[in-house]
Amino acid sequence: MCGIVGYTGPRQCVGTLLDGLSKLEYRGYDSAGIAIHDDGDIAIRKSEGKLARLVELVAREPVSGTCGVGHTRWATHGRPSDENAHPHRSGGVAVVHNGIIENHQSLKKRLCGMGRTFCSETDTEVIAHLLDEHAAAGLSLAEAARRTVAELRGSYAFLAISLKEPGTLVGARLNCPMVVGIGDGETFLASDLPPLLSHTREAIFLEDGEMVVASPDGVEVTDFSGAPRRRSPQHIDWSPVMAEKGGYRHFMLKEIHEQPRAILDTLAGRMLPESGEVFFETLPMPDERLRRLKKVLIVACGTSWHAGLIGKFMIEGLARLPVEVDLGSEYRYRDPVVEEGTLCVPISQSGETADTLAGLREARKKGAVAISICNVVSSTIARESDGVIYTHAGPEIGVASTKAFTTQLVALYLLGLHLAAARGTRTMEEAAAHLQDLSELPRKIEEVLKNEAAIAAIARKYKDARDFLYLGRGVSYPIALEGALKLKEISYIHAEGYPAGEMKHGPIALIDERMPVLVLCAKGDSYEKTLSNLEEARTRGGRVIAVGTAGDRTLADKAEDVVFLPPCGSYTRPILEVVPLQLLAYHMAVLKGTDVDQPRNLAKSVTVE
Ligand code: M6R
Repeated sequence: MCGIVGYTGPRQCVGTLLDGLSKLEYRGYDSAGIAIHDDGDIAIRKSEGKLARLVELVAREPVSGTCGVGHTRWATHGRPSDENAHPHRSGGVAVVHNGIIENHQSLKKRLCGMGRTFCSETDTEVIAHLLDEHAAAGLSLAEAARRTVAELRGSYAFLAISLKEPGTLVGARLNCPMVVGIGDGETFLASDLPPLLSHTREAIFLEDGEMVVASPDGVEVTDFSGAPRRRSPQHIDWSPVMAEKGGYRHFMLKEIHEQPRAILDTLAGRMLPESGEVFFETLPMPDERLRRLKKVLIVACGTSWHAGLIGKFMIEGLARLPVEVDLGSEYRYRDPVVEEGTLCVPISQSGETADTLAGLREARKKGAVAISICNVVSSTIARESDGVIYTHAGPEIGVASTKAFTTQLVALYLLGLHLAAARGTRTMEEAAAHLQDLSELPRKIEEVLKNEAAIAAIARKYKDARDFLYLGRGVSYPIALEGALKLKEISYIHAEGYPAGEMKHGPIALIDERMPVLVLCAKGDSYEKTLSNLEEARTRGGRVIAVGTAGDRTLADKAEDVVFLPPCGSYTRPILEVVPLQLLAYHMAVLKGTDVDQPRNLAKSVTVE
């Protein structure tokens, strides 16, 4: 995700800003830039690509000054390019931004109507124009920022500087982090702690709805209406490496905990819960064309394939279109039949997986139209598709996929609802109920995450098991596969995912007191049947760990250990169910002492066959 830095004080700050940006590189980015008050002007240097390119640019075209902002961009709106890189300038104002402005399209339309021209495809540029509009009307930068935030919807942390107020930096935060580092006569700002730690350990973490005005005279924190907030700095004693992981021991754990935010970002600006409508700005297919579709073909690998298996339930259930799900590595070699009216949906976090890419190429060659679901903007799969739905999970650094998976499921759910609306297979009321369930999901995941200590205790109890069986039915069967994959890849414990109803056709022979059986048994369509399968495992001596719905006393009595989830709808259930399985695998791996973020033999992006 994007990173932002800012500085005001006595020192020449180009080096400080570039160094700060280098401390944010771990977050992933595709372009970088700085803006500095330089001799009566605002000088901007920005470039697509890695920071080294920006450093070269600054060496060729030097800038100097003691107040400025910097940014690393992880593209969401608009491809990675020099034009879309931040900072964005309008008139006398330059701005850097992290987050998503949900109402940017309506704001842009209004601003264009007022004669303003846009130079980028970003949502951020509306902030620069709004700030400049208010500043041009005679307001101070702080007052202009207050007026601007009143017009923005979405999530943001932004920093702005203005030609008229050299030495002043204004920042605002809503749902995206911003930290203010207090130095000796100087102020450092950043979206995360690492850029600050080599300068100061005294920091104020802005809260949602707060603004900061920093100048050589000091720092003032207010709410969005301008009322002062009394905020004392906290002393930070993190090491820089700890700081990059946000205080978590591993990136995987950080990414598990980032899921509520990642899902909020994936939903942002795409739905109207009241009317049940779903929008995708990067889906160039009119409803008329969606209505003519005859079939959906999902191609993916690994965890993304598990998401596809659940997508089949969602799309078939909501849009009444038949869905075929194939592994990229199989599809490409079996000379598949592609009927007219096939929509191919490749799913890939990295957007670079060779087998998925080959599947996409094969399907398109045979006449399918493709809409991919990718996390990395402008990746090869995204570029080679006719349309793309981006998951806004942010960079996923741990090899074991977690937040990419849950955001893929959210994207598939939205796609199912979008197809359903175009094809008239769901009423507005039904769609609104689904969107309500989706909008409650981030909060429910927060609730599940609160069980982490109990899940870690379960991991301690079973850490010496050599084999695990994961069982689930319907939408929970792919979650059994995913839970088993997580455990295998990071703890190196053998685990198998199985459809609960199939157990009696073979794997039941494996069950004894040395084989823990994890059963996904939340309330839903197949609850009673899964409970019977759980009973079958228990009566054969299996030690049962269950994942169920809060308040289910029957389940609590039958299982040796149980993790409860809040009640939810049938398509958000798998998204909640996977969270305890991610945590279980994580804690097992930590107990085993494996390299959690970079497990042996595995790569984050598999670009070979
Ligand atoms: O980048 P992709 O989503 O295309 O990657 C596909 C798989 O390689 C990936 O999901 C892999 O299975 C993960 N390590 C699972 O945690």
